[in-house]
Amino acid sequence: MTTISATEWQEHLDAMITDLREAGALTDLCWISAFRAVPRHVFTPRLLEPDQHDTAQTRQAWLSRVYQDDSLITAITYEPGLRTDVPTSSSTRPGLMALMLELLQLRDGMRVLEIGTGTGYNAGLLAHRLGDSHVTSIDIDSALIESARRRLHSLTLAPHLLTGDGIAGAAHRAPFDRIIATCAVPDIPLAWITQLTPGGAMLVNLRGEIAGGTLCLLTKDTTGDHEVIGPFLSVPAHFMWARHDPARALPYDIHPTSERDQTRTTTNPETVADIAHDSTDPDFRFFVQLHIRGIRTLTTTSPPPHTTIHAETTDGSWATAHTTTGHIAQGGTRRLWDTISAAHTLWRDLDQPPPTRFGVVANTTTQFVYLDHDDNWTRWPLPLLGYRG
Ligand SMILES: C[S@@+](CC[C@H](N)C(=O)[O-])C[C@H]1O[C@@H](n2cnc3c(N)ncnc32)[C@H](O)[C@@H]1O
Repeated sequence: MTTISATEWQEHLDAMITDLREAGALTDLCWISAFRAVPRHVFTPRLLEPDQHDTAQTRQAWLSRVYQDDSLITAITYEPGLRTDVPTSSSTRPGLMALMLELLQLRDGMRVLEIGTGTGYNAGLLAHRLGDSHVTSIDIDSALIESARRRLHSLTLAPHLLTGDGIAGAAHRAPFDRIIATCAVPDIPLAWITQLTPGGAMLVNLRGEIAGGTLCLLTKDTTGDHEVIGPFLSVPAHFMWARHDPARALPYDIHPTSERDQTRTTTNPETVADIAHDSTDPDFRFFVQLHIRGIRTLTTTSPPPHTTIHAETTDGSWATAHTTTGHIAQGGTRRLWDTISAAHTLWRDLDQPPPTRFGVVANTTTQFVYLDHDDNWTRWPLPLLGYRG
């Protein structure tokens, strides 16, 4: 494939930077200059369809895609539990990357660990901003690390790249002033807490399966205790899972729904209708996932008033409720409907709090999500999902 000349991509890059600045995602001059110096197309594989040729026209079509504010899937892995391919790597949406980089409030001389090198684009932006020796980036997929290294070298950038499970951090490169995770976790890995400098900060997508938008900015105590604390932000983010096995897409197993221990009851149809209504609300979904570890689906089928709500957890527990009849069926080791219903009552009693009213405390002995204040006893233990094995 021919090399793409600057005259072909420069205009696209300039337009993307203008758009990010207008959207308020990119404000800091240091980051503007990093985005200028590290062109995204260098990091995104260019695939031609079988009937396509490398022409000025196909190059322009590809460049205009690359310089949109969209994430681009770059790897997929077959996930047996879902019997389908699941995206396992991507180049993150540049607008989100810019917001996250600015949220880190980096200063010259700081040392950063990125979990999830992927294409290497973000590692390149960080290396331009801080210098190669201040940036460590790790990915579980060795092939991704090799291509990221090649691409970064083509721009004369050489941050420290590692293949391995980033859940364990990078002890021999620690401590870090900042940690940025571009893959999601259901709790805060202990190694990230201990490898952070006192007063340091980490930006983490802490999530379960049924609600996104849960980026947390956690800062570490300056007293020398290994504790991080901080709020959920209003920045929409839904990263791919951090996984322990590069051959799998999900970090947990999915068990078939259980035929055992079924119960059938009836409740007030209006209650079911209320819950059906709120079950599409991202704020309520966030709240439910605090109550049910491992919840992986919460769906409603057919439009109201004849709605069925269905919930499942990774351990095979399930519940189905009907808005017209009030019939509830539940199976498996947990009574999901009972918990969803109790969570709904509490959510309404608490004035339907959005995720931004919650925060996280994580230390070497405990991890929980709190409402409003970290000393509030309205709190929920982490993780939101169990890891495999
Ligand atoms: C959204 S992509 C990262 C995007 C990347 N920062 C970029 O600029 O292109 C998420 C990455 O996390 C990696 N990943 C998943 N689990 C991991 C783990 N346990 N340790 C390190 N990397 C992991 C995936 O292989 C994938 O490349």
